[in-house]
Amino acid sequence: MNYNIKIGDLSKMRGACLVLGVHGRKRLPEAAKAIDTASSGHLSRMLKNSHMDGAKEQILLLHQVPGIACKQVLLVGCGKKNEYNLAAYRKVAAAAVAELGRQRVTEALWTLHQPTPDGTDGYRSVRDTVMTAEDFSYRFDQLKSEAKPPKRPLKTLDFWAPDKTGYAETQRAIEHGCAIADGGTLAKDLGNLPGNLCTPTYLADQALELGTLSSKLKISILEENEMQQLGMDALLAVSRGSRQPAKLIVMEYRGGAEQEKPVVLVGKGLTFDAGGISLKPGQAMDEMKYDMCGGASVLGTMRTCVQLKLPINLVGVVPASENLPGGAANKPGDILTSMSGRTIEVLNTDAEGRLILCDALTYSKRFKPDVVIDIATLTGACVIALGRHPSGLFSNHDGLARDLLAAGEGSGDRAWQLPLWDDYQSQLDSRFADMANIGGREGGSITAACFLSRFTKSMHWAHLDIAGTAWISGNKKGATGRPVPLLSQYLLQRCGLIP
Ligand code: BES
Ligand code: MN
Ligand code: ZN
Repeated sequence: MNYNIKIGDLSKMRGACLVLGVHGRKRLPEAAKAIDTASSGHLSRMLKNSHMDGAKEQILLLHQVPGIACKQVLLVGCGKKNEYNLAAYRKVAAAAVAELGRQRVTEALWTLHQPTPDGTDGYRSVRDTVMTAEDFSYRFDQLKSEAKPPKRPLKTLDFWAPDKTGYAETQRAIEHGCAIADGGTLAKDLGNLPGNLCTPTYLADQALELGTLSSKLKISILEENEMQQLGMDALLAVSRGSRQPAKLIVMEYRGGAEQEKPVVLVGKGLTFDAGGISLKPGQAMDEMKYDMCGGASVLGTMRTCVQLKLPINLVGVVPASENLPGGAANKPGDILTSMSGRTIEVLNTDAEGRLILCDALTYSKRFKPDVVIDIATLTGACVIALGRHPSGLFSNHDGLARDLLAAGEGSGDRAWQLPLWDDYQSQLDSRFADMANIGGREGGSITAACFLSRFTKSMHWAHLDIAGTAWISGNKKGATGRPVPLLSQYLLQRCGLIP
């Protein structure tokens, strides 16, 4: 989609559809007031004589408003003025974009960001609009033999500004919004692609493709024999039940100073999780194609970073594998030696994410990271604990946890912190090895995080459990692209590009 900034007298602007917000029937916001004046009170009369009273997400389409140059006006209820915050704005913007789609409007002039909703600024409200519009226009129909794309989709969104103040800010918001949305789109596409197509090899190829975007991005793919040499027995054990070879994808972006320690993102890239010998029940098992969404979010965030040429050093590590019950598969009771040298008793082969991640985390140490963040669809227990609104956050470093929580708030892609107390560690005791790979039913997402924490002791580390947030189930099934917005926001804030 195209985004522009249009400065000047609203009533004189030509365009297909002007999007105006109102909070009630009276005391119109600046944009609506300007149109009301230009049309000699037409808007006020319409508000008086229609169902539209400004309630949140109400819509009224007006044709032939006198005295203005736009063909149509889409009046959008924004709800009570004192409740118009960023969350409300997002809902209102989504409703408006959806209506523009239904009305087959291809070009709209947007004013809902003026004045900016409570607690936001011009940057945030514009960036959010772009992300909402991009999210709305996302489709995954490449595998339908007769895809039916919308006939006249929204192609251009122009942001209105009364004057030149804030121009640079708006431009930056558009640029950032598009880059974050593009990263999210990559993550969604990879997530939605089924397991027979999105294999570890495919993920690796996609990373190599990303590498062509920038000379600052170097991609290496480690094959099974190299992983063997590194002693990654935990990762390889998960992959043994599958005919698809595992890949360890390593993406190194050098946009910062030579000496600057990198941020390392480690994403679970389990391209299909059948559970292995501890086979999962059949119900909704197809959704386990989404078990690589952590890895996809790392590729997505890398893409955003490259697109924005961020002045930062960023490394992405994605252990990619299937988890299937083949003849050579990992068995309950098997004891593996991880790359760290510590031994793991596999009491449930379905707790495979932590097995591939522990070796990838150990591997990450070679980058001497400033911080390491892993992202994984790790536990069903996280969905039970938090539902599907926030991602679960765990960290051994308070500052990092604080920054990530703030990045979640700032991007609307929120996380909620859960405890990582030593009290839980004993649930991982094993009779025969250094540790077991499961810790029982109680606090399942916490013991999973505790398992990972044993491999990240020397680093500032955080873990995002995205089991509840990476995709939506039901009749709107699809990947969400989360937590690309959170991670991108974190990087932008680190670079000092946004407050
Ligand atoms: N990929 C799953 C976690 C998952 C399940 C995410 C359902 C989203 C929805 C993970 O590999 C897994 O199977 N975890 C087990 C761990 C258990 C065996 C300790 C789980 O959550 O049931
Ligand atoms: Mn599993
Ligand atoms: Zn899994």
